[in-house]
Amino acid sequence: MRVAEAVKARRSIRGFKPDPVPEELLREILDIARHAPSNCNTQPWHITVVSGEARNKLEDAIVTEILSGKAPSPAFKPGDADLDGVYKERQFDCAMTYYGTMGIERHEKDKRQALMLKNWQFFGAPHVAFISMPTGMGSVNAIDIGIYLQTLMLLLVDYGLASIPQGALAFFPDPVKEIANLPEGHGIICGLSFGYEQPGEQINKVIMDRAPLEDVVTLIS
Ligand SMILES: Cc1cc2nc3c(=O)[nH]c(=O)nc-3n(C[C@H](O)[C@H](O)[C@H](O)COP(=O)(O)O)c2cc1C
Repeated sequence: MRVAEAVKARRSIRGFKPDPVPEELLREILDIARHAPSNCNTQPWHITVVSGEARNKLEDAIVTEILSGKAPSPAFKPGDADLDGVYKERQFDCAMTYYGTMGIERHEKDKRQALMLKNWQFFGAPHVAFISMPTGMGSVNAIDIGIYLQTLMLLLVDYGLASIPQGALAFFPDPVKEIANLPEGHGIICGLSFGYEQPGEQINKVIMDRAPLEDVVTLIS
């Protein structure tokens, strides 16, 4: 598969088959992902993949925490905080496309919340990864995490797998720290649920468009 094909083929997939990815295959993919570049080659990322019984235990622990009313406590400022202007508009359009595809109207708060909760049920994926970096690091180092994340997501596509990156998985770090044993001093930037796509699921019909080229690129000569 050409890189251009993988970039175009990747989409956020939120409906998965229960079948786990063989560990040998997973190790092969993660071994290649290590080649992602980073500032001064610091490789600030750590990825913890949770599967099987531990994955189910973690889902229970996070959902219990959320339903008990605990407030989110992310280590880093969430990506949707303080948006305005065109970015706020794009966030709104994203929500309209997502809920619209799922047949959920704006006023149907319970349905929206139930869909939101699926984030912490890892959208039914058999594997969930938590990507962390040292909490003392900042936005420039977070570029490295983003590059690593996209490298990994494209590799998953190349190997016939699907994934959904989730900032929401940074919101309730305590059960993750307890069960998934993150490195000391690390904070979660985001999570990635992944596995084999369940074809035909309505949630996998969400197609997000992009701003036109001229809105995001300036060519000067
Ligand atoms: C860093 C990051 C965090 C995201 N967090 C979430 C999330 O918490 N829940 C979710 O359903 N989608 C999440 N997404 C998916 C985006 O909504 C999606 O990438 C965007 O709408 C473009 O759609 P596409 O990935 O299908 O091309 C996240 C994406 C990124 C890159």
